[in-house]
Amino acid sequence: MTSFSKRFLLCAVAYVVLGMALGTHMGAQQDFKLAPIHGHMNLVGWVTMALFAWFYNTVPAAAGDKLAQAHFWAAQIGMVMFIIGLYIVLNENMTGEPVLIAGELLTGISMLIFGYKVWKTDAT
Ligand code: HEM
Repeated sequence: MTSFSKRFLLCAVAYVVLGMALGTHMGAQQDFKLAPIHGHMNLVGWVTMALFAWFYNTVPAAAGDKLAQAHFWAAQIGMVMFIIGLYIVLNENMTGEPVLIAGELLTGISMLIFGYKVWKTDAT
């Protein structure tokens, strides 16, 4: 496994561990208010980042430039801002909205970079 790919995969595992812990907590408390955080942490944090890791492991040449670094940091900072902003908004405090929107934008940008990377990859 390449080190860049491993970075993505380690982040993915961190998100799913936190996401599962939150799911377990919600079930134990029978309080599902934070279900959207659980859903996004698991699907964007775990599933999406694991797919990024798979791509960079399969196409190591795609990992070697500044755009790949931008992809990684947009994805991580975006995910963290998304979770924090959503947490604040779900607690009925709209001051979290700009943080949530910034997180959404960064998450979207990270996916656009990924799309560009896939597009630029030569098919065999
Ligand atoms: C220990 C593992 C997990 C536990 C205990 C758990 C628990 C839960 C609970 C209690 C809910 C709320 C159900 C409700 O609203 O009635 C939920 C929703 C959900 N879970 Fe999990 N879950 C786990 C793992 C996962 C994983 C691995 C994924 C995705 C890869 C996932 C995706 C979702 C989604 C998409 C929702 C719906 C979120 C929403 O309604 O906004 N969960 N889960």
